Amino acid sequence: MLTLFAVLEHRAILTWPGRDIKKLWPSSPLTELQDQAYSVASSESYHNNLVVLADNQQALPLLRNRFHNTIKLIYIDPPYNSGQTLANYTDKKRQSEWLSAMKAHLEVLRDLLRSDGFICCHIDDAMGPYLKVLLDEVMGHQQYLATLSIRVRYPQKTLRQDLEVHREIEYIHIYKKTPKARPYLECQPVLLDKFCYTINVHCPPRRSISLGNRTIEIYHQGDYEIIKGHGSPQGLKEIWASGTILDSNSSGRFYRDYLSGRVSEDGLGALYRVYGIGDDGIGFRYFVGPRRPKATKGKYFQGLPTNSPTNRKAQIPIPGFFDLAGAFGNCRHEGGVEFRSGKKPEILLSTLLRYFSQPGDWILDSYAGSGTTGAVAQKMRRRWIMIEREPHGFTHILPRLRAVIDGSDLTGVTVDNHWNGGGGFQVLCQEHHRGHSSEDES
Ligand SMILES: C[S@@+](CC[C@H](N)C(=O)[O-])C[C@H]1O[C@@H](n2cnc3c(N)ncnc32)[C@H](O)[C@@H]1O
Repeated sequence: MLTLFAVLEHRAILTWPGRDIKKLWPSSPLTELQDQAYSVASSESYHNNLVVLADNQQALPLLRNRFHNTIKLIYIDPPYNSGQTLANYTDKKRQSEWLSAMKAHLEVLRDLLRSDGFICCHIDDAMGPYLKVLLDEVMGHQQYLATLSIRVRYPQKTLRQDLEVHREIEYIHIYKKTPKARPYLECQPVLLDKFCYTINVHCPPRRSISLGNRTIEIYHQGDYEIIKGHGSPQGLKEIWASGTILDSNSSGRFYRDYLSGRVSEDGLGALYRVYGIGDDGIGFRYFVGPRRPKATKGKYFQGLPTNSPTNRKAQIPIPGFFDLAGAFGNCRHEGGVEFRSGKKPEILLSTLLRYFSQPGDWILDSYAGSGTTGAVAQKMRRRWIMIEREPHGFTHILPRLRAVIDGSDLTGVTVDNHWNGGGGFQVLCQEHHRGHSSEDES
Protein backbone atom coordinates (compact mmCIF):
# COMPACT_ATOMS: atom_id res chain seq x y z
CA MET A 1 0.00 0.00 0.00
CA LEU A 2 1.06 3.56 -0.59
CA THR A 3 1.96 5.96 2.14
CA LEU A 4 2.89 9.50 1.25
CA PHE A 5 4.17 12.45 3.13
CA ALA A 6 2.25 15.68 2.99
CA VAL A 7 3.30 18.94 4.57
CA LEU A 8 1.25 20.70 7.22
CA GLU A 9 2.56 23.96 8.66
CA HIS A 10 6.09 23.02 7.55
CA ARG A 11 5.90 19.62 9.25
CA ALA A 12 5.70 16.30 7.42
CA ILE A 13 2.62 14.23 8.21
CA LEU A 14 1.66 10.77 7.06
CA THR A 15 -1.17 10.27 4.68
CA TRP A 16 -2.79 7.04 3.50
CA PRO A 17 -5.95 6.03 1.66
CA GLY A 18 -8.94 6.42 3.96
CA ARG A 19 -7.05 8.54 6.49
CA ASP A 20 -9.80 11.07 6.95
CA ILE A 21 -12.81 8.76 6.81
CA LYS A 22 -14.26 8.84 10.30
CA LYS A 23 -15.37 5.37 11.25
CA LEU A 24 -18.33 5.18 13.57
CA TRP A 25 -17.55 2.48 16.05
CA PRO A 26 -20.62 0.45 17.03
CA SER A 27 -20.82 0.89 20.73
CA SER A 28 -22.77 -0.78 23.47
CA PRO A 29 -22.61 0.47 27.04
CA LEU A 30 -20.15 -0.96 29.52
CA THR A 31 -21.75 -2.95 32.28
CA GLU A 32 -20.19 -3.96 35.54
CA LEU A 33 -19.55 -7.66 36.14
CA GLN A 34 -19.96 -7.66 39.88
CA ASP A 35 -19.18 -11.36 40.18
CA GLN A 36 -15.72 -10.76 38.61
CA ALA A 37 -14.71 -7.81 40.80
CA TYR A 38 -12.09 -8.54 43.39
CA SER A 39 -10.76 -6.83 46.45
CA VAL A 40 -9.22 -7.61 49.78
CA ALA A 41 -9.53 -5.63 52.97
CA SER A 42 -6.15 -4.00 53.49
CA SER A 43 -4.39 -0.80 54.22
CA GLU A 44 -4.10 -0.25 50.44
CA SER A 45 -6.77 2.32 49.70
CA TYR A 46 -7.13 1.83 45.96
CA HIS A 47 -9.97 -0.49 45.12
CA ASN A 48 -11.40 1.40 42.17
CA ASN A 49 -9.01 0.09 39.49
CA LEU A 50 -10.66 -1.09 36.30
CA VAL A 51 -10.33 -4.08 34.01
CA VAL A 52 -12.33 -3.27 30.88
CA LEU A 53 -13.03 -6.29 28.70
CA ALA A 54 -13.93 -4.64 25.42
CA ASP A 55 -12.49 -3.29 22.20
CA ASN A 56 -10.55 -0.18 23.12
CA GLN A 57 -12.02 1.82 20.21
CA GLN A 58 -15.42 1.37 21.77
CA ALA A 59 -14.44 1.42 25.43
CA LEU A 60 -12.24 4.53 25.46
CA PRO A 61 -14.91 6.99 24.28
CA LEU A 62 -17.13 5.63 27.05
CA LEU A 63 -14.43 6.30 29.64
CA ARG A 64 -13.70 9.75 28.26
CA ASN A 65 -15.99 11.72 30.58
CA ARG A 66 -14.83 10.01 33.73
CA PHE A 67 -11.10 10.06 32.95
CA HIS A 68 -10.67 13.23 30.87
CA ASN A 69 -7.36 14.93 31.92
CA THR A 70 -6.84 12.30 34.61
CA ILE A 71 -4.25 9.76 33.49
CA LYS A 72 -0.63 10.39 34.42
CA LEU A 73 0.95 7.64 32.31
CA ILE A 74 -0.34 5.72 29.32
CA TYR A 75 1.68 2.72 28.20
CA ILE A 76 0.54 1.02 25.01
CA ASP A 77 1.96 -2.07 23.40
CA PRO A 78 -0.26 -2.48 20.36
CA PRO A 79 0.00 -5.36 17.89
CA TYR A 80 2.99 -4.55 15.64
CA ASN A 81 1.09 -5.58 12.52
CA SER A 82 3.67 -8.28 11.90
CA GLY A 83 1.39 -10.17 9.52
CA GLN A 84 1.46 -13.21 11.82
CA THR A 85 -1.24 -15.18 13.53
CA LEU A 86 -0.03 -15.18 17.11
CA ALA A 87 -1.07 -17.58 19.86
CA ASN A 88 -3.63 -15.21 21.37
CA TYR A 89 -4.68 -12.91 18.54
CA THR A 90 -4.20 -12.20 14.85
CA ASP A 91 -1.68 -9.48 14.08
CA LYS A 92 -2.54 -8.83 10.49
CA LYS A 93 -4.18 -5.70 9.14
CA ARG A 94 -3.84 -3.62 6.01
CA GLN A 95 -1.33 -0.89 6.82
CA SER A 96 -3.95 1.79 6.14
CA GLU A 97 -6.32 0.09 8.56
CA TRP A 98 -3.62 -0.17 11.26
CA LEU A 99 -2.74 3.52 10.85
CA SER A 100 -6.38 4.63 10.93
CA ALA A 101 -7.05 2.62 14.08
CA MET A 102 -3.90 3.96 15.78
CA LYS A 103 -4.71 7.56 14.85
CA ALA A 104 -8.27 7.35 16.20
CA HIS A 105 -6.98 5.63 19.28
CA LEU A 106 -4.18 8.10 20.03
CA GLU A 107 -6.56 11.04 19.64
CA VAL A 108 -8.73 9.71 22.47
CA LEU A 109 -5.76 8.75 24.62
CA ARG A 110 -4.33 12.27 24.34
CA ASP A 111 -7.56 13.68 25.88
CA LEU A 112 -7.33 11.34 28.85
CA LEU A 113 -3.81 12.47 29.79
CA ARG A 114 -3.23 15.01 32.53
CA SER A 115 -1.33 18.12 31.48
CA ASP A 116 1.77 16.70 33.21
CA GLY A 117 1.18 13.22 31.80
CA PHE A 118 3.21 11.03 29.44
CA ILE A 119 2.45 8.44 26.80
CA CYS A 120 4.90 5.60 26.11
CA CYS A 121 4.29 3.64 22.90
CA HIS A 122 6.08 0.30 22.50
CA ILE A 123 6.71 -0.79 18.92
CA ASP A 124 9.18 -2.65 16.70
CA ASP A 125 11.52 -1.38 13.99
CA ALA A 126 9.08 -2.04 11.15
CA MET A 127 6.13 0.07 12.33
CA GLY A 128 8.09 2.31 14.73
CA PRO A 129 8.90 5.06 12.21
CA TYR A 130 5.27 5.26 11.00
CA LEU A 131 4.03 5.44 14.58
CA LYS A 132 6.58 8.15 15.38
CA VAL A 133 5.36 10.41 12.57
CA LEU A 134 1.76 9.81 13.63
CA LEU A 135 2.59 10.62 17.24
CA ASP A 136 4.36 13.81 16.15
CA GLU A 137 1.10 14.88 14.54
CA VAL A 138 -1.33 13.79 17.25
CA MET A 139 0.72 14.70 20.35
CA GLY A 140 2.68 17.56 18.74
CA HIS A 141 6.32 17.13 17.71
CA GLN A 142 7.36 19.62 20.43
CA GLN A 143 6.07 17.20 23.04
CA TYR A 144 8.43 14.43 21.89
CA LEU A 145 10.74 13.39 24.72
CA ALA A 146 12.71 10.44 23.38
CA THR A 147 12.67 7.02 21.81
CA LEU A 148 14.15 4.43 24.14
CA SER A 149 15.84 1.42 22.56
CA ILE A 150 15.19 -1.83 24.37
CA ARG A 151 17.23 -4.95 23.73
CA VAL A 152 14.62 -7.67 23.89
CA ARG A 153 16.65 -10.75 22.92
CA TYR A 154 20.23 -11.95 22.62
CA PRO A 155 21.20 -12.96 19.10
CA GLN A 156 22.86 -16.18 20.18
CA LYS A 157 19.68 -17.34 21.92
CA THR A 158 17.54 -16.87 18.85
CA LEU A 159 19.92 -18.24 16.26
CA ARG A 160 17.58 -19.22 13.51
CA GLN A 161 18.87 -20.21 10.11
CA ASP A 162 15.64 -19.07 8.45
CA LEU A 163 16.08 -15.42 9.49
CA GLU A 164 18.12 -12.90 7.54
CA VAL A 165 18.20 -10.40 10.40
CA HIS A 166 17.86 -10.99 14.13
CA ARG A 167 15.48 -8.44 15.54
CA GLU A 168 17.07 -7.65 18.86
CA ILE A 169 15.82 -4.15 19.55
CA GLU A 170 12.36 -2.70 20.13
CA TYR A 171 11.47 0.92 20.73
CA ILE A 172 9.40 3.04 23.08
CA HIS A 173 8.37 6.46 21.75
CA ILE A 174 7.69 8.84 24.64
CA TYR A 175 5.66 12.06 24.43
CA LYS A 176 4.54 14.60 27.00
CA LYS A 177 0.99 15.90 27.06
CA THR A 178 2.36 19.45 27.56
CA PRO A 179 5.79 20.93 28.34
CA LYS A 180 4.72 20.87 32.02
CA ALA A 181 5.35 17.12 32.16
CA ARG A 182 8.66 16.27 33.81
CA PRO A 183 10.09 12.80 34.41
CA TYR A 184 11.06 11.85 37.95
CA LEU A 185 14.81 11.51 37.68
CA GLU A 186 16.99 9.80 40.20
CA CYS A 187 19.70 11.79 41.91
CA GLN A 188 23.16 10.76 42.94
CA PRO A 189 25.62 12.57 45.17
CA VAL A 190 27.85 14.96 43.25
CA LEU A 191 31.21 13.29 42.90
CA LEU A 192 33.44 15.09 45.32
CA ASP A 193 36.67 13.41 44.32
CA LYS A 194 37.70 16.42 42.22
CA PHE A 195 37.18 18.79 45.15
CA CYS A 196 40.44 17.60 46.66
CA TYR A 197 42.72 20.68 46.83
CA THR A 198 43.54 23.08 49.67
CA ILE A 199 45.72 26.14 49.30
CA ASN A 200 47.81 27.30 52.26
CA VAL A 201 49.35 30.76 52.18
CA HIS A 202 52.39 31.29 54.41
CA CYS A 203 52.77 35.06 54.46
CA PRO A 204 50.88 38.32 53.91
CA PRO A 205 50.29 39.30 50.26
CA ARG A 206 53.12 41.02 48.37
CA ARG A 207 50.69 43.53 46.88
CA SER A 208 47.01 44.37 46.87
CA ILE A 209 45.59 45.89 43.66
CA SER A 210 42.24 46.51 42.05
CA LEU A 211 41.33 45.16 38.60
CA GLY A 212 37.92 44.88 36.95
CA ASN A 213 36.32 46.36 40.10
CA ARG A 214 37.71 43.55 42.23
CA THR A 215 40.32 43.56 44.95
CA ILE A 216 43.20 41.20 44.24
CA GLU A 217 45.94 40.07 46.61
CA ILE A 218 49.10 38.83 44.93
CA TYR A 219 51.46 36.15 46.30
CA HIS A 220 54.69 34.97 44.72
CA GLN A 221 55.74 31.43 43.98
CA GLY A 222 57.04 29.98 47.28
CA ASP A 223 54.57 32.06 49.36
CA TYR A 224 51.95 29.31 49.20
CA GLU A 225 51.47 25.59 48.67
CA ILE A 226 48.73 23.65 46.91
CA ILE A 227 47.94 20.38 48.67
CA LYS A 228 46.12 17.54 46.99
CA GLY A 229 44.12 15.32 49.40
CA HIS A 230 40.82 13.46 49.44
CA GLY A 231 37.70 15.00 47.91
CA SER A 232 35.42 16.76 50.42
CA PRO A 233 32.68 19.41 50.39
CA GLN A 234 35.28 21.88 51.74
CA GLY A 235 37.87 21.05 49.05
CA LEU A 236 38.66 23.04 45.90
CA LYS A 237 38.53 21.81 42.33
CA GLU A 238 41.36 22.71 39.89
CA ILE A 239 40.21 24.12 36.53
CA TRP A 240 42.52 25.10 33.68
CA ALA A 241 41.81 28.61 32.44
CA SER A 242 42.12 27.79 28.75
CA GLY A 243 40.04 27.03 25.64
CA THR A 244 36.30 27.70 25.86
CA ILE A 245 36.49 28.38 29.62
CA LEU A 246 38.12 31.71 28.74
CA ASP A 247 34.94 32.88 27.01
CA SER A 248 32.11 30.94 28.59
CA ASN A 249 32.73 31.34 32.29
CA SER A 250 33.14 34.43 34.48
CA SER A 251 36.33 33.16 36.16
CA GLY A 252 37.75 32.22 32.74
CA ARG A 253 36.95 35.67 31.39
CA PHE A 254 38.50 37.34 34.45
CA TYR A 255 41.71 35.38 33.94
CA ARG A 256 41.74 36.20 30.20
CA ASP A 257 41.05 39.91 30.66
CA TYR A 258 43.06 40.77 33.79
CA LEU A 259 45.56 38.09 34.84
CA SER A 260 46.89 36.27 31.79
CA GLY A 261 49.31 39.02 30.81
CA ARG A 262 50.87 39.67 34.27
CA VAL A 263 53.80 37.21 34.27
CA SER A 264 56.38 39.94 33.61
CA GLU A 265 55.07 41.94 36.56
CA ASP A 266 54.32 39.21 39.18
CA GLY A 267 56.67 36.40 38.07
CA LEU A 268 55.98 32.78 37.13
CA GLY A 269 53.55 30.86 39.32
CA ALA A 270 52.03 33.90 41.04
CA LEU A 271 48.93 33.25 43.14
CA TYR A 272 46.03 35.72 42.95
CA ARG A 273 43.31 35.85 45.58
CA VAL A 274 40.45 37.60 43.78
CA TYR A 275 37.61 38.82 46.03
CA GLY A 276 33.91 38.79 45.12
CA ILE A 277 33.96 36.14 42.40
CA GLY A 278 32.44 32.65 42.29
CA ASP A 279 29.28 30.90 43.48
CA ASP A 280 30.87 28.71 46.14
CA GLY A 281 30.28 31.06 49.08
CA ILE A 282 34.01 31.33 49.89
CA GLY A 283 34.12 35.06 49.14
CA PHE A 284 37.22 34.91 46.93
CA ARG A 285 38.71 32.65 44.30
CA TYR A 286 42.36 31.64 43.83
CA PHE A 287 43.98 31.92 40.39
CA VAL A 288 47.49 30.74 39.55
CA GLY A 289 49.46 32.22 36.63
CA PRO A 290 51.70 30.20 34.25
CA ARG A 291 54.49 28.35 36.08
CA ARG A 292 56.99 27.89 33.24
CA PRO A 293 58.62 30.35 30.80
CA LYS A 294 56.60 30.60 27.55
CA ALA A 295 53.60 28.87 29.15
CA THR A 296 50.37 30.86 28.86
CA LYS A 297 47.79 28.70 30.59
CA GLY A 298 46.74 29.44 34.15
CA LYS A 299 44.27 27.77 36.50
CA TYR A 300 41.73 28.62 39.09
CA PHE A 301 40.34 26.75 42.07
CA GLN A 302 36.64 26.66 42.80
CA GLY A 303 34.67 25.27 45.73
CA LEU A 304 31.38 23.33 45.62
CA PRO A 305 28.60 25.71 44.43
CA THR A 306 26.24 26.57 47.29
CA ASN A 307 23.10 27.82 45.65
CA SER A 308 22.65 25.36 42.79
CA PRO A 309 20.50 22.21 43.06
CA THR A 310 23.60 20.26 42.09
CA ASN A 311 25.20 21.31 45.38
CA ARG A 312 25.11 17.81 46.82
CA LYS A 313 23.00 15.82 44.34
CA ALA A 314 23.12 15.53 40.57
CA GLN A 315 20.21 14.26 38.46
CA ILE A 316 20.86 11.11 36.45
CA PRO A 317 19.34 11.34 32.96
CA ILE A 318 17.19 8.46 31.73
CA PRO A 319 19.40 6.12 29.69
CA GLY A 320 18.45 5.89 26.02
CA PHE A 321 19.18 2.17 25.90
CA PHE A 322 18.09 -0.66 28.19
CA ASP A 323 19.41 -4.18 27.82
CA LEU A 324 16.48 -6.27 29.01
CA ALA A 325 17.14 -9.33 26.86
CA GLY A 326 17.47 -11.50 29.97
CA ALA A 327 14.24 -10.18 31.47
CA PHE A 328 12.36 -10.69 28.18
CA GLY A 329 13.70 -14.23 28.01
CA ASN A 330 12.60 -15.02 31.56
CA CYS A 331 9.22 -13.28 31.83
CA ARG A 332 7.21 -16.24 30.55
CA HIS A 333 6.09 -17.29 34.02
CA GLU A 334 5.64 -13.83 35.49
CA GLY A 335 2.22 -13.38 37.04
CA GLY A 336 1.60 -17.11 36.70
CA VAL A 337 0.19 -16.70 33.17
CA GLU A 338 1.86 -17.81 29.98
CA PHE A 339 1.23 -15.45 27.07
CA ARG A 340 3.16 -16.07 23.89
CA SER A 341 2.02 -12.95 22.07
CA GLY A 342 4.27 -10.13 23.15
CA LYS A 343 4.28 -10.36 26.94
CA LYS A 344 6.57 -7.72 28.46
CA PRO A 345 8.69 -8.21 31.59
CA GLU A 346 7.55 -6.48 34.77
CA ILE A 347 10.93 -4.78 35.15
CA LEU A 348 10.32 -2.80 31.94
CA LEU A 349 7.01 -1.47 33.24
CA SER A 350 8.39 -0.72 36.70
CA THR A 351 11.17 1.31 35.07
CA LEU A 352 8.67 3.39 33.09
CA LEU A 353 6.35 3.83 36.07
CA ARG A 354 9.26 4.99 38.21
CA TYR A 355 10.31 7.66 35.70
CA PHE A 356 6.87 8.88 34.71
CA SER A 357 4.49 8.45 37.65
CA GLN A 358 4.17 8.46 41.41
CA PRO A 359 2.12 6.42 43.89
CA GLY A 360 -1.60 7.18 43.59
CA ASP A 361 -1.36 8.28 39.93
CA TRP A 362 -3.62 6.74 37.27
CA ILE A 363 -1.94 4.44 34.71
CA LEU A 364 -3.71 3.22 31.56
CA ASP A 365 -2.89 0.37 29.18
CA SER A 366 -5.42 -0.06 26.40
CA TYR A 367 -3.70 -3.15 24.88
CA ALA A 368 -3.41 -5.02 28.15
CA GLY A 369 -2.47 -8.51 26.84
CA SER A 370 -1.63 -10.58 29.92
CA GLY A 371 -2.05 -7.60 32.29
CA THR A 372 1.62 -6.80 32.98
CA THR A 373 1.01 -3.05 33.32
CA GLY A 374 -1.82 -3.50 35.83
CA ALA A 375 0.17 -6.01 37.88
CA VAL A 376 3.15 -3.65 38.11
CA ALA A 377 0.99 -0.57 38.74
CA GLN A 378 -0.70 -2.35 41.64
CA LYS A 379 2.60 -3.48 43.14
CA MET A 380 3.90 0.10 42.81
CA ARG A 381 0.75 1.52 44.46
CA ARG A 382 -0.63 3.32 41.43
CA ARG A 383 -4.26 3.27 40.26
CA TRP A 384 -4.84 1.65 36.89
CA ILE A 385 -7.13 0.83 33.96
CA MET A 386 -6.49 -2.20 31.71
CA ILE A 387 -8.41 -2.67 28.45
CA GLU A 388 -8.34 -5.94 26.51
CA ARG A 389 -10.73 -7.19 23.89
CA GLU A 390 -9.72 -10.86 23.55
CA PRO A 391 -10.87 -13.70 25.84
CA HIS A 392 -7.45 -13.80 27.53
CA GLY A 393 -8.75 -10.80 29.46
CA PHE A 394 -10.71 -13.38 31.45
CA THR A 395 -8.15 -16.18 31.41
CA HIS A 396 -4.99 -14.14 32.00
CA ILE A 397 -5.61 -10.63 33.28
CA LEU A 398 -8.23 -11.39 35.92
CA PRO A 399 -6.38 -14.30 37.57
CA ARG A 400 -3.05 -12.46 37.37
CA LEU A 401 -4.40 -9.36 39.08
CA ARG A 402 -6.29 -11.37 41.70
CA ALA A 403 -2.99 -13.03 42.62
CA VAL A 404 -1.29 -9.62 42.90
CA ILE A 405 -4.07 -8.36 45.15
CA ASP A 406 -4.28 -11.40 47.41
CA GLY A 407 -0.49 -11.34 47.75
CA SER A 408 0.12 -14.80 46.25
CA ASP A 409 2.04 -13.53 43.18
CA LEU A 410 5.68 -13.56 44.22
CA THR A 411 7.05 -13.11 40.69
CA GLY A 412 8.35 -10.08 38.77
CA VAL A 413 8.82 -6.89 40.77
CA THR A 414 6.88 -8.03 43.87
CA VAL A 415 9.88 -8.22 46.19
CA ASP A 416 11.56 -5.05 44.85
CA ASN A 417 8.42 -3.12 45.77
CA HIS A 418 7.88 -4.82 49.16
CA TRP A 419 4.46 -5.86 47.92
CA ASN A 420 2.34 -8.13 50.13
CA GLY A 421 -1.05 -7.71 48.48
CA GLY A 422 -3.98 -5.36 48.93
CA GLY A 423 -6.46 -3.27 46.98
CA GLY A 424 -8.95 -4.40 44.40
CA PHE A 425 -10.53 -3.84 41.00
CA GLN A 426 -13.86 -3.66 39.20
CA VAL A 427 -14.58 -5.34 35.88
CA LEU A 428 -16.49 -3.62 33.09
CA CYS A 429 -17.57 -5.49 30.02
CA GLN A 430 -19.48 -4.96 26.81
CA GLU A 431 -22.50 -7.13 26.29
CA HIS A 432 -21.03 -9.39 23.61
CA HIS A 433 -17.92 -10.09 25.75
CA ARG A 434 -20.02 -11.35 28.64
CA GLY A 435 -20.17 -14.85 27.15
CA HIS A 436 -16.40 -15.28 27.53
CA SER A 437 -16.55 -15.29 31.28
CA SER A 438 -18.87 -18.32 31.54
CA GLU A 439 -17.10 -20.10 28.62
CA ASP A 440 -13.74 -19.69 30.33
CA GLU A 441 -14.94 -20.88 33.66
CA SER A 442 -16.62 -24.01 32.27
C1 LIG B 1 1.39 -7.08 22.31
S1 LIG B 1 0.02 -7.52 23.21
C2 LIG B 1 0.25 -6.68 24.73
C3 LIG B 1 1.07 -7.47 25.68
C4 LIG B 1 1.18 -6.84 27.03
N1 LIG B 1 1.99 -5.64 27.02
C5 LIG B 1 1.75 -7.83 28.05
O1 LIG B 1 2.81 -7.56 28.65
O2 LIG B 1 1.15 -8.87 28.24
C6 LIG B 1 -1.26 -6.59 22.43
C7 LIG B 1 -2.62 -6.84 23.02
O3 LIG B 1 -3.55 -5.90 22.47
C8 LIG B 1 -4.80 -6.52 22.34
N2 LIG B 1 -5.59 -5.72 21.39
C9 LIG B 1 -5.38 -5.57 20.08
N3 LIG B 1 -6.30 -4.73 19.54
C10 LIG B 1 -7.10 -4.34 20.57
C11 LIG B 1 -8.24 -3.50 20.65
N4 LIG B 1 -8.73 -2.88 19.58
N5 LIG B 1 -8.82 -3.33 21.86
C12 LIG B 1 -8.34 -3.95 22.96
N6 LIG B 1 -7.28 -4.80 22.92
C13 LIG B 1 -6.66 -4.97 21.75
C14 LIG B 1 -4.43 -7.91 21.85
O4 LIG B 1 -5.50 -8.81 22.06
C15 LIG B 1 -3.21 -8.21 22.71
O5 LIG B 1 -3.60 -8.83 23.89
